[in-house]
Amino acid sequence: MTATKAKRLNGKAILLIVGGGIAAYKSLDLVRRLKERGASVRAILTRAGAEFVTPLSLSVLSEEKAFTDLFDLKDEAEIGHIRLSREADLIVVAPATADLLAKMAHGLADDLATAVLLATDKTVLVAPAMNVRMWQHPATKRNVATLRADGVALVGPEEGEMACGEYGLGRMAEPAAIIDAIASSLGSSLLGTSSLGTSLLAASPAGANAEGPLQGLRVLITSGPTHEPIDPVRYLANRSSGKQGHALARAALELGAEVVLVSGPVALPDPHGVRVVKVETAHEMLAAALAALPADIAICAAAVADWRAADEAPQKLKKQQPGSEASLKLKQNPNILATLAKPGGKRPRLVIGFAAETENLIDNAIAKRRAKGADWIVANDVWPGTGAMGGDHTQIHLITGQGTEDWPAMSKDEMARRLLARAAETLQLLRSAAE
Ligand code: CTP
Repeated sequence: MTATKAKRLNGKAILLIVGGGIAAYKSLDLVRRLKERGASVRAILTRAGAEFVTPLSLSVLSEEKAFTDLFDLKDEAEIGHIRLSREADLIVVAPATADLLAKMAHGLADDLATAVLLATDKTVLVAPAMNVRMWQHPATKRNVATLRADGVALVGPEEGEMACGEYGLGRMAEPAAIIDAIASSLGSSLLGTSSLGTSLLAASPAGANAEGPLQGLRVLITSGPTHEPIDPVRYLANRSSGKQGHALARAALELGAEVVLVSGPVALPDPHGVRVVKVETAHEMLAAALAALPADIAICAAAVADWRAADEAPQKLKKQQPGSEASLKLKQNPNILATLAKPGGKRPRLVIGFAAETENLIDNAIAKRRAKGADWIVANDVWPGTGAMGGDHTQIHLITGQGTEDWPAMSKDEMARRLLARAAETLQLLRSAAE
């Protein structure tokens, strides 16, 4: 194991829920691998899960108490199911049985595991494991679609020989694939090229993405900053990391879309499975975005430079005299969001822009929605103290034609999932209205 591999989940807190099923034995290996990679693990066993692995094995491997019952009053007093969720960075359900998926989809909370799952605002990743017929049953399909729309991420199941002797889709994803999906869900920037796209695609059944609510749709996303050259060695730029745009691309892929990501210069790996078009300047970004049309959804998450040097110097600019001042003439760049949102044949059905503001957030964002002709504006405060610019978390307000929604603070990955799930739902409504 390389040092990078060993450390890539360093400091991350995983709350692992072990459902009932023969695959539960793999959860022990999963705990071991998570610990090796530097994560801390707390485990909850459902009653059925405890038929397959013991709380003792889980607590020995995780070096934490394994929790088993909501009505253990001592644990409730000491730690409580809300705290279990609050102290986790990610909740992983492995194995997730058909029964557990059904309870999650319906919001049941009759034991510790389901109470945590209902009470959490953290990202939930599930690794389904069941008999092929149960996986293919319309009820399970409905439940999985509901969970996906709620922003729950899936890894697996895989095809293969089952414990019951049958063959087909339903085997739980291998621990290595679950680890990859965990790293991707946490938006780990230490991932190599086999990041979310690969892990979720590879670990999902052949039809998983094909069943996603964005299946058959194209999503265009702009991401990152632009660099506007001043001379051959200098440029104008901003502090955008591209994390939000890239998270949106991964989330769209996860929901089954064909994704084109037009990205300015960023230090992030390309999301696997996404078509990435790399650009430098606002002009190049506009050209690439227009070339990617038609698209069903366009999300402009890029922090496009508003200005460029009016005259790019062909040679490196020299100081005239020691101490002399210099001035730079700037020209406005084209507005990509406004261009994409212009009414016409190729306008995506849903055009979403971002408003990064440091003051009068909501008013400016509402005005921006109108001025740009966007359907939605995702408004976020980028005042340096918020840590939103370049950070992993964000707190947004969604401005639509119906009003303003205040979303709680969450990871950029989580926000991306919820926004895309919401977009999928909206397009579905538009489609149904048109029929
Ligand atoms: N945007 C764009 N092209 C530009 C500038 C911005 O597509 N040339 C998009 C961004 O991707 C974002 C939205 O417009 O979705 C708002 O960006 P922002 O920089 O906040 O707004 P501006 O329109 O540039 O307005 P201002 O800087 O004056 O607040």
